[in-house]
Amino acid sequence: MKKLIAGNWKMNGSKDESRALIAAIVNELSQDEAILDNAEILVCPPVLYLGDVRHALHGYPSVVFGAQDVSLYDNGAYTGDISAKMLKDAGCSYVILGHSERRQYHGESDADIKVKAEKVLAQDMVPVICVGETESERDAGEQEAVVAKQLKGAIPELKPHENLVIAYEPVWAIGTGKTASPQDAEAMHSFIRSELKSLVSAPNSVRILYGGSMKPENAKDLLGQENIDGGLIGGASLKADAFLSIAKSA
Ligand code: 13P
Repeated sequence: MKKLIAGNWKMNGSKDESRALIAAIVNELSQDEAILDNAEILVCPPVLYLGDVRHALHGYPSVVFGAQDVSLYDNGAYTGDISAKMLKDAGCSYVILGHSERRQYHGESDADIKVKAEKVLAQDMVPVICVGETESERDAGEQEAVVAKQLKGAIPELKPHENLVIAYEPVWAIGTGKTASPQDAEAMHSFIRSELKSLVSAPNSVRILYGGSMKPENAKDLLGQENIDGGLIGGASLKADAFLSIAKSA
């Protein structure tokens, strides 16, 4: 299984900056296509710039793109929402769901994330379901219980052909410069893998990404762990060279 190297651009940049970033990614990759031997590259720009990213990737299917959230609803009077069908229409193949920032600032629950994942799967896109404990939960030794509850609450029943990605993002490591040690991350990823056994039919085919201050300096050690199947990268995904240097570590 290739590692999935995913950039979550969050709410950063402008139209021009998004265009420049995707152009730089394509340019660097076309000069070093060996990166793609071991890594699948995914970028998740702000939804407004999906069209620009799609345009830039036309004729370059090696990089796929996705969204950072989706509506709970299919269509209708939901002002400001964007449906799974619209994202599919815009060319998305993945949708990040339940990021801790959405849980924190938009009150998203595991039950919401499950409904969203079902919408995403119904459009033949891949949900990237984010889980992870806060610092106080880790200090209290509750990280496994927290993550187990999130997985159980948010993962929908999958049909055999359906595809799912889990992103383990310890909240205390997001945007803080603090990273889980490769050993702690691997311990959690292997716990997630074992939890998946009772939740999905093919736990070994689910990619489990690590997210939280992943950068070129620590990517190799993290991605070298047995159950770390890729990265969900925030800050370092906003610079083409840092992002692709992480992909190169795969
Ligand atoms: P940082 O890489 O900036 O810590 O963000 C991680 C993240 O939240 C990716 O979704």
